[in-house]
Amino acid sequence: MNAAGGVWQGGGRRIALYEVGMRDGLQAETAFVPTDEKIALIDALADAGMRKIEATAFVSPQAIPALRDASAVLRAIGRRPGVIYSALVPNAGGAERAIDAGADEMNLVMSASESHNLANLKMTRAQSFEALSGVSRIAHQARVRVNISLSCSFGCPMEGDMSEATVLDGCARFIEQFGAQGVTLCDTTGMAYPGQVFALTCALRARWPGTELTLHFHDTRGMGLANVMAAIDAGATRFDVSLGGLGGCPYAPGASGNVCSEGIAHALECMGYDTGIDLALLIAAAQRLPALVGHAIPSQIVQAGRRLDVHPPPSDLDAIRARARAHAHTRPRPRA
Ligand code: COA
Ligand code: ZN
Repeated sequence: MNAAGGVWQGGGRRIALYEVGMRDGLQAETAFVPTDEKIALIDALADAGMRKIEATAFVSPQAIPALRDASAVLRAIGRRPGVIYSALVPNAGGAERAIDAGADEMNLVMSASESHNLANLKMTRAQSFEALSGVSRIAHQARVRVNISLSCSFGCPMEGDMSEATVLDGCARFIEQFGAQGVTLCDTTGMAYPGQVFALTCALRARWPGTELTLHFHDTRGMGLANVMAAIDAGATRFDVSLGGLGGCPYAPGASGNVCSEGIAHALECMGYDTGIDLALLIAAAQRLPALVGHAIPSQIVQAGRRLDVHPPPSDLDAIRARARAHAHTRPRPRA
């Protein structure tokens, strides 16, 4: 990190934000967002500058009905040049569907925790490794990128802390045996804290400097931005974020929203990082969400605006100022 301002002064350094709201966000919603609205949102996210968008998930439609239109969505989006359109894939059937619909990348998922893996994917971790090895082969044959997301890397709501050895062992198989281009460490239920994030990010970067490392935080306990900054301090440059702060795994007790796309983009812009994001366009996209999901969204930026979005003063401000000046000399001195 630069000595002058440490992590707090970005100095134009590039940080890539990857949008996961159309998958991690919508999978947790009971409302079915119409297919054409999903397509319009994905196109708006690409226009706002997202370089990678997890557009959907090729999972069982019975398990996640909100994403049952995965193929239709992926086929109809605008395909902006330079944008990677990724899709979550849990098994070989999902991989075939993703290739068919033209996914640029498969995001394969398993959990660092045995209990969460069983709850979410109905398999032991050993079975998941076996299955994902086959899915990676299918992806490589089709020349589709492979990223692996390791859920509960910073703790499991059923098992507690995950040891660093468990997480690194999982990553070793993905990177060294599956040939994954990227690994995402996921904090599925917001259990990560900055010291832990710094240590794990350093360990991964030291062991696999050539692998694309992404960090995926949920803001469940208010540590999301602090965790992003700790990871940047350790040299990370890629983060998953979710429009409006939607998100949460239906199979992880207590799960809630991801770190918010416009919140993280705003904070990083304030600190002088280059995210390539047009905040006005991103906020406009987030403002469309409440009507689509049927409830208010967690986004603090949508609620409060940007820090320099100034508000008009009260209409009687001049009168207040005149009164304050007139009374200045008659006021009793404040006691020390
Ligand atoms: N795409 C479409 N349908 C799928 C599918 C896929 N990738 N994987 C399984 N299915 C269907 C099967 O065809 C079967 O349908 P049927 O009952 O009409 O025959 C049904 O789902 C069950 O299939 P099975 O192979 O027995 O899978 P399973 O019950 O062991 O389910 C998962 C395993 C993981 C594929 C499934 O539970 C799932 O998709 N879960 C969602 C996981 C998720 O997205 N979690 C949150 C993100 S981390
Ligand atoms: Zn998540």
